[in-house]
Amino acid sequence: MNTEHIVRTFVEYFQERGHRHLAGSSLLPLPGDPVLFTTSGMHPLTPYLEGRPHPLGRRLVNVQRCLRTTDLDEVGDDTHLTVFEMLGTWSLGDYEGPRSLGWGHNLLVNGFGIDPGLLHATVFGGDEHSGPDTGSLRTWEELGVPVELTTDENWWSNGPTGPCGPDSEIFMWTGDTPPRSTPTGDDRWVEVWNHVMLRYRRHDDGSLDLLPRPNVDTGLGLERLSAILQGRKSVFETDLFEPWMRSVPPLWPLDQRQLRLVCDHLRSSAVVIGEGVLPSNTGRGYVLRRLVRRVLTTLWRDDPSRTLADLPEELIQHTLDHFGLPGRTGRIRDVLLDEERRFTQLLQRGRRVLSQPRFSAPLTEEDYTYLHDTHGLPRELVRGLRTGTPG
Ligand code: SER
Repeated sequence: MNTEHIVRTFVEYFQERGHRHLAGSSLLPLPGDPVLFTTSGMHPLTPYLEGRPHPLGRRLVNVQRCLRTTDLDEVGDDTHLTVFEMLGTWSLGDYEGPRSLGWGHNLLVNGFGIDPGLLHATVFGGDEHSGPDTGSLRTWEELGVPVELTTDENWWSNGPTGPCGPDSEIFMWTGDTPPRSTPTGDDRWVEVWNHVMLRYRRHDDGSLDLLPRPNVDTGLGLERLSAILQGRKSVFETDLFEPWMRSVPPLWPLDQRQLRLVCDHLRSSAVVIGEGVLPSNTGRGYVLRRLVRRVLTTLWRDDPSRTLADLPEELIQHTLDHFGLPGRTGRIRDVLLDEERRFTQLLQRGRRVLSQPRFSAPLTEEDYTYLHDTHGLPRELVRGLRTGTPG
């Protein structure tokens, strides 16, 4: 089942159950939002989860592009990506959690053909603020799915304040043996789908009160689902990454982790630039700058002559098309090359300055301040140059 077919199956399944298809929003939240990038499907819907009526009604389904920098160091494993897509559904004060879990289980098993014996759920077991999620527990028992109760792992919030609540996650076994242990005890259980019972709002002082109406917010990582349904061990082996994983290795021989990082970060950079962001030293631009510089550092570790000028336009085009972004590939390439030039110049300057005898001893706070203020060399870059891993 290719990814396009998976998306269509998901959306149509929920449309048949009364959900309206909401177009995915930009990766960039609206002005005034303190968050740099959209990190989950629910984020753009926050006002509606807090009670404002949504123009499309109380049942929604969509595909939302998201960016998470919290997972940056995990990129290169089988499941984490910087830019990824989330299939999401919402009940805005309409049906409750058990119905959502039942529909979710039915879609996975009967719609996507997943062996029900490979599923495991986790459920909120209760803490000092909120009791156990008995509705979810009962639903899984009725469906014959084993359950693990946790507290911290099964509480979802999008930030320190705002809508939050207990969640129930569906995991799938990916090991070569029959399933064993539980999701928190064995990472061969891969999280597939999170159903959040968004019943509360957390205030600045940490207190919780009930939202005007309880919602259900669910999210399912598209790339992970594609990997499972396409029988692949990693998201990088799915059709979504096929052109990247085919074209990059002949260009730049890299080990597997490096190859995955380069493909993820370049694809993510193309999306972020396509959304109108330019590299800079603050905010969104800094996230983009870090992505591009991590790619360059990885490429140059074995061969400093490698250049992003060799990146096939076809890969950028494939990414823009997939995300429905209107940008021109030439412009994205220009931004990447401009950043490559700046980073090259910065490294040259850094190496020149750091080769002075006064910097041969361990650096002091004063040295870092001088290098930053006088030569524009950030502390991280200086540290990286000293350890051979700038970026
Ligand atoms: N908001 C929840 C998550 O991101 C479910 O969509 O996991």
